[in-house]
Amino acid sequence: MSKIIITGATGRIGSACLTHCLSHPAVHLVVALTRRPIDSPEANNSKLKNLIVSNFSTLSEDVLAELEGANACIWSLGQNSEGDPQMEEREYVWPVAAARLFAEKLAPSSTPAPFRFVLMSGQLVLHSNADPNASLWFFSQARKTKGRTSRAIIGMQDEFSNFESFAVRPGGVITDDNYTPNLVVAALSLIRRGDLAAAVADIALNGGQQRLFECGELRSKGIQKREELLAGSLTKL
Ligand SMILES: NC(=O)c1ccc[n+]([C@@H]2O[C@H](COP(=O)([O-])OP(=O)(O)OC[C@H]3O[C@@H](n4cnc5c(N)ncnc54)[C@H](OP(=O)(O)O)[C@@H]3O)[C@@H](O)[C@H]2O)c1
Repeated sequence: MSKIIITGATGRIGSACLTHCLSHPAVHLVVALTRRPIDSPEANNSKLKNLIVSNFSTLSEDVLAELEGANACIWSLGQNSEGDPQMEEREYVWPVAAARLFAEKLAPSSTPAPFRFVLMSGQLVLHSNADPNASLWFFSQARKTKGRTSRAIIGMQDEFSNFESFAVRPGGVITDDNYTPNLVVAALSLIRRGDLAAAVADIALNGGQQRLFECGELRSKGIQKREELLAGSLTKL
């Protein structure tokens, strides 16, 4: 049974990850780190502990004590506001500091599987370091900043034992009840929120062969995992 940390749980993607993890038989506890209380119906779920955090780069000893025994983190805190002065701190400093802290403090005792950090990145994020000065036509600052973040976090697994890191790269995320036909969803590189959440939860729980997951892989993994959950074939690990 796993204990999962989620950030961004009040947002569109993080809230779907929260709902999925709470319904997953292999998850016994979700610790959601948010800046304001979760006000969705999940707030009263007995598997949820919601901790309010004011500084995401230096988590307090009290918060760290609550995270003890955690097996994975789904980091979906973030925004795409170009030109935002808080961008560097929110999109780079916080997730990189948290991943390092978890690798140091939580990975050594994560058992039976390694501690896994799953970063919510994006399809257009410039993950490759080929040309960091390339001029991009749109969302240049966000795509480069988030690219540095995914490189730093993926690179961290060479530094720490019992720690695995992944970056997921969805395209446009749409609601589950969006009327767009599935063929068009695939052709436009979109993904339904619930499918993304199911894929991300599975990576947090079971890892994966690769470090980067592209939108198509996330969509098919998510659809399969949701079907398994509905059919009751996902087991308690
Ligand atoms: N939506 C998409 O189509 C899409 C596609 C690809 C990648 N992404 C990436 O996925 C991530 C999540 O996206 P989303 O659509 O779920 O965004 P969202 O709905 O705006 O949610 C953002 C989450 O981050 C939290 N947050 C933002 N700024 C914060 C701050 N300064 N301090 C503490 N918490 C903060 C928000 O908390 P509050 O609720 O308190 O504001 C919320 O929980 C982002 O990095 C985004 O770039 C999104």
